[in-house]
Amino acid sequence: MPWCCPEPHLELTLKSCAGYYPILAFKSRALGFLNILYFMGFATTAIHAGQEPDSTSGAVSIPIYQTSTYAQDGLGKHKGFEYARTSNPTRLALERNLAALEGAQFGYAFASGMAAIDATLRLVRAGDHVIVSDNTYGGTNRLFKRVLANYGIEFEFVDTSDVTNVESAIKDNTRMVFVETPTNPVMIVTDLKAVSDVAHASGARVVCDNTFMSPYLQRPLEFGVDIVVHSTTKFLNGHSDGIGGAVVLNNEDDANWIAFIQNSAGAILSPFDSWLVMRGTKTLALRMEQHDKSGRAVAAFLEDHPKVLKIYYPGSKSHKQHDLAKRQQKGFGSMVSFDVGSLEAARTVLESVKLCTLAESLGGVETLVCHPATMTHASVAPEVRERLGITDGLVRISVGIEDTDDIIADIDQALSKVGK
Ligand SMILES: Cc1ncc(COP(=O)(O)O)c(C=O)c1O
Repeated sequence: MPWCCPEPHLELTLKSCAGYYPILAFKSRALGFLNILYFMGFATTAIHAGQEPDSTSGAVSIPIYQTSTYAQDGLGKHKGFEYARTSNPTRLALERNLAALEGAQFGYAFASGMAAIDATLRLVRAGDHVIVSDNTYGGTNRLFKRVLANYGIEFEFVDTSDVTNVESAIKDNTRMVFVETPTNPVMIVTDLKAVSDVAHASGARVVCDNTFMSPYLQRPLEFGVDIVVHSTTKFLNGHSDGIGGAVVLNNEDDANWIAFIQNSAGAILSPFDSWLVMRGTKTLALRMEQHDKSGRAVAAFLEDHPKVLKIYYPGSKSHKQHDLAKRQQKGFGSMVSFDVGSLEAARTVLESVKLCTLAESLGGVETLVCHPATMTHASVAPEVRERLGITDGLVRISVGIEDTDDIIADIDQALSKVGK
């Protein structure tokens, strides 16, 4: 079955752009365009959704509308854009593109993944209870525990890979279940359908951070999830040259509130960064195919390596949720973590790589390696890190799209230095 835009996608033009889109003629042309896209696959959608040639010049690449404001013809007479915090044609094109990729009606682009997550949490209020995967990205953990908890929101971290933990954590005031799957960095997979069923039975929304998979490999809304958040900094942008975030969803009331927060708090994605992410999504399908292919090869290499004590990769048959990952994901992606037993050994690997780059972040065309315990997850309490398996010997690789053999040769030579 091709990955195509679902029917509600038609409303993307009518609803999410209502009051925004400049001219009616443009609107109906876009609608015709999206009608065609409804029958198209993922790669076509990625290249064309929201990307109608510019109405004034015909530019095939959406122009970067680098403006803070828009001239008005008279009082109350404008072309749908009044002030660039509220809306911008470049950002709007990206938002429509991202919504289409996740099969959603509404999309909103933010200045970072954390800004997108922060805006999403504005859907709950003081006194509400939120259940969270206990192995989320360290920054999410920090935002929830150290910032938002100060405003009366109660966060409970559970292992969401076992749905009974979610079920027993639900309380009368549970309004949201926030999951990340697979988790960063130990690749725990949560059953999105099972969690959605349980959460919906008590009236709570389900939010999924889909950063690690991208919509090419996983489309959470198809499993009942209500809201998808992304750090577009990663695979969606794909070139390690911009920070950004997104929220996509179908519920119109929630979408209106996210739009209101986006405008009120103002953590918007700039026109240039929006353009960079659009440039990225056009090659998402191709890049993810290669990321996935090399991810599998690197994981297989590491699994058999004598200096590697354990690997964390949902594509490995030894991963205890391999079958669930196969069901829920179109592939396994390129995030692979492995334990070499000690800080010293991890340091040797991380400081010996030549092609791979020691750096935070992931999802770019270049292979990056990092040390979660002291980098991405330094803000997580040591005892929690220990429980989750984020040991001092854990190394995480974001496998890029260089030649697979070159990536493996580099990791091989770095591992050969361990214990010498
Ligand atoms: C899974 C995940 N979610 C959210 C974020 C935050 O995104 P950003 O750095 O764009 O704010 C990250 C960053 O690494 C991440 O890995």
